[in-house]
Amino acid sequence: MPSLDDSTRGRILFGGDYNPEQWPEETWQEDVRLMKRAGVNSVTLGVFSWATIEPRPGAREFGWLDRLMDLMHANGIGVVLATPTSSPPPWMGSRHPETLPRDEQGQTVWWGSRQQFCASSPTYRAYAAAITEDLAARYAGHPALTMWHINNEYCTHCWCDETARHFRRWLRTKYGALDALNEAWGTAFWSQRYDAWEEIIPPRRAQYMRNPAHTLDFKRFTSDALMECYIAERDIVARHTPHIPVTTNFMPLWSGQDAWRWAEQEDVVSVDIYPDPKDPLGGQYNAMLGDMTRSQARGPWVVMEQAAGAVNWRGVNHPKPPGLNRLWSLQSVAHGADAVCYFQWRQSRQGAEKFHSGMLTHAGEDGRTFKETSRIGSELARLSPHVAGSRISADIAVLHDWGSWWAGQQDGRLSTQLDYTEVVRAWHRALWESGRTTDFAHPEHDLTGYRLVVVPHLYLLTDAAIDNLLSYVRGGGTLVCGFLTGVADEDDRVRAGGMDARLRELLGIGTVHEWWPLDADESVECEGFLGTLWSEEFEPAGGEVVAAYRGGELDGLPAVVRNGRAWYVSTLPESDALRALLGRIADDAGAAPVLAGLPGGVEAVRRGELLFLLNHSREAVTVQVPGSHQELLTGERVSAGLTLERYGVAVLSRTTP
Ligand code: GAL
Ligand code: ZN
Repeated sequence: MPSLDDSTRGRILFGGDYNPEQWPEETWQEDVRLMKRAGVNSVTLGVFSWATIEPRPGAREFGWLDRLMDLMHANGIGVVLATPTSSPPPWMGSRHPETLPRDEQGQTVWWGSRQQFCASSPTYRAYAAAITEDLAARYAGHPALTMWHINNEYCTHCWCDETARHFRRWLRTKYGALDALNEAWGTAFWSQRYDAWEEIIPPRRAQYMRNPAHTLDFKRFTSDALMECYIAERDIVARHTPHIPVTTNFMPLWSGQDAWRWAEQEDVVSVDIYPDPKDPLGGQYNAMLGDMTRSQARGPWVVMEQAAGAVNWRGVNHPKPPGLNRLWSLQSVAHGADAVCYFQWRQSRQGAEKFHSGMLTHAGEDGRTFKETSRIGSELARLSPHVAGSRISADIAVLHDWGSWWAGQQDGRLSTQLDYTEVVRAWHRALWESGRTTDFAHPEHDLTGYRLVVVPHLYLLTDAAIDNLLSYVRGGGTLVCGFLTGVADEDDRVRAGGMDARLRELLGIGTVHEWWPLDADESVECEGFLGTLWSEEFEPAGGEVVAAYRGGELDGLPAVVRNGRAWYVSTLPESDALRALLGRIADDAGAAPVLAGLPGGVEAVRRGELLFLLNHSREAVTVQVPGSHQELLTGERVSAGLTLERYGVAVLSRTTP
């Protein structure tokens, strides 16, 4: 199977989405000149080119793309070639209205923007396959081609009648018999029993709360339905070019795609990352997505898109202050990226994204953004021979599962304040701030290589996942579980006692009498810290109470329990407390920080033989590093101390032990 190495060939890829069809051809020459100046070695072509290639059904206009592919090759720039299937031309919806998605209310989602396709539509799929086939046949032997990029951020959801038929086929495969489905969905409740498959529809707008097991299966189905579209196109391009790796760019931590399952279907895992430049924890968010994507890739991965400056889809869109683009780009490399790419090369002057930054903004080549981007290009070229292909090893895994996320976000839940991604982020943040590098893992993955496994919050755990956690701890691992974990089984059926009995025994806790979610601005006092978001009423059963609730209705009951190497944290401790708690447990488990004694805001990551130091603060800081090193960006020798400017980065290669 091809891999990212086949695209990078020892370099870090640097470049971005290139949409030259938006510009007259004279501009292309200018683009190439500036790309070379900026150190661009890779562009992604064709992402939204469907209407240009196929202006009317069955037509093919490849001439412009031929010229571009040749131009890129002549200038030593590789092409990540996209299938254009994420944005069907207006003729498709106009001639074949059944290709247009319907929302939960049955309303049509029209053309005029992008991504208006129904994943279940045979007509859409046939057109997508045909253009993919012709594109692959035409460019299979082209020397500029380095990677295939299938579609773009698969994210459409549809509730139409075709989707209903497709959903029923999916359910028949899963359950075989209707009785099994009725049992799994608990349809005895509210008279929801299905008597025939034809009665089953996607969970559309209804009078009151919908059946959560039904909506959970629909989310699983939708991820799979989109993945079928991906696989169909992947198989076409792979038939033409078995040696060229294939990817599709994920939206990170997005609920629509089970990225663990999708990643298994990709040669290269790529992701689009857009931290808010105004977010003081944007660096942590960037780190988290890097850790997650690296774990899905099980090795080097691709930043397919990021912004050189502002995006234009937040309420208020902030530019990146000087240094931040560079910091986050190098941070992604530190976290295992072998490609740093942007949306997009040249900022559009028309259309909905004319205020979204590009590597080359409206300010042109004298603009600050272009200068800064060019600096990143030259620095990545310098780092490439030292870093490309190298690996990261982590002692800690954070467990994350789309199925549990979906199940937890249903109608009729205990608290709408509970945002799954925020809880995952809080736990990752605690470990990140304590200076430790983490992987992510699925609860059924092999965990034996980790010293510490943390479960921020997995409401749904399958039997297999519970077996996995039990044997992990039995085998010597340390496990920390956050609140509301192990409550539901695979079908979203609540387990007796409020949490799986074997898990309770492992954690040393008794029956959960009640869950006590907290209001948005509420906190609960615990011994030594404040808990937020959640609390629980249970008694210890064999476990030692590390901290009890103080005051309030839960006074004296356990908040944090420890049973040997298994811990249960029944609230979300404030950030300082969570950091201290997880830091202490990690120390005991032998999962040490990368570098001790770092000043606040400085992150250290080891990748291969290199030590990356990243200053996320706006003040210059001095860092002590034992041993002698060479700093690869400046070539300077470093022994003992070094100063990192605001948003500064150092990449150290050891010269003496
Ligand atoms: C991504 C998308 C790009 C561009 C970008 C803007 O979701 O893939 O095409 O729209 O957002 O931030
Ligand atoms: Zn549909």
